[in-house]
Amino acid sequence: MVNLDSFDELELAGAVAKEIGRPAQVGIRVNMRLNYPAWDKFGFNLEEGQALEACRRIAANPFLSLAGLHCHAGTYIIDLSIYRKLIENLIGLAVKAQGTLGAELRYLDVGGGYGSLNTLHTQLMPGETTCPTPDQYAATICEVLNSRITDFKNPPLLLLEPGRSVVDECMVLLSTVVSVKNQSSGRKGIIIDAGVNLLPTAFYYKHDLATDREVSNVSEQVDIYGPLCMQIDLIRKGATIPYTQAGDVITIRNVGAYNFSQSMQFIQPRPAVVLIDGAQVQEVRRAETYDDLKRLEIVPERLRSPWNRKEKAS
Ligand SMILES: Cc1ncc(COP(=O)(O)O)c(C=O)c1O
Repeated sequence: MVNLDSFDELELAGAVAKEIGRPAQVGIRVNMRLNYPAWDKFGFNLEEGQALEACRRIAANPFLSLAGLHCHAGTYIIDLSIYRKLIENLIGLAVKAQGTLGAELRYLDVGGGYGSLNTLHTQLMPGETTCPTPDQYAATICEVLNSRITDFKNPPLLLLEPGRSVVDECMVLLSTVVSVKNQSSGRKGIIIDAGVNLLPTAFYYKHDLATDREVSNVSEQVDIYGPLCMQIDLIRKGATIPYTQAGDVITIRNVGAYNFSQSMQFIQPRPAVVLIDGAQVQEVRRAETYDDLKRLEIVPERLRSPWNRKEKAS
């Protein structure tokens, strides 16, 4: 399945299908006014008529046929009305494409974007209470689709593309407290050995934090920093956690989405990844070494120190 993103891609798909002599079934990605900021760098805009025009051009091309409509509206969308409007709009476009262009749509793809149990910095209530359940997302989308199902010649396949909602809870990041200090603000600062290079989602999530030992009921408000060389390496401002000292382990929960895949070796190579399956713990990615970091580097011969040059002095 290929969902075309632009008129250039549409032309290219038509040309490739013609060249290999095999008509291609394609979908289009649609963007629409749903949320702010609009995810309008992707696909054909609905309100401006680009999406319908793309359907027309596909219908007019003997090597292409329109098989589906796709819209991925953003990420961490917890406002169900956005999905309601999204599916209503896709159905509206599908009905036009069927009626005026004779398209036979096989699927409607409502993309991903479903929230996870994490809490955004802008939320007062924990993600566990603000994030709709999978059933609520499903009910919202299917209620609209079922009510319009007779508008289709054949009921389309409904496709979903969940990302973070599936994997966020699958990973935890274990970090060790390196040092504890008093900041000029008067608040305690805690430096841990995991920074935003491993946890880029710290910029928008208040992750769930836990310490590794039984603690008394004494807790304190702290700022938690990573080990990187910039002040923005802030894992959490004003976290309330039990009294903590150097050497303690802090567990950062629900880090499975968009952290490892966006992590980088800045200052430090990345740690190992282990799979925990009941009592079984297995290393599934070894810790990186400095040799791993250098593996792809190519040092031009002329920049090598004389004793590392390959050619021998004549
Ligand atoms: C087309 C498309 N579908 C699905 C996803 C998954 O999004 P999420 O992790 O927000 O569910 C993405 C992520 O960027 C995407 O680009």
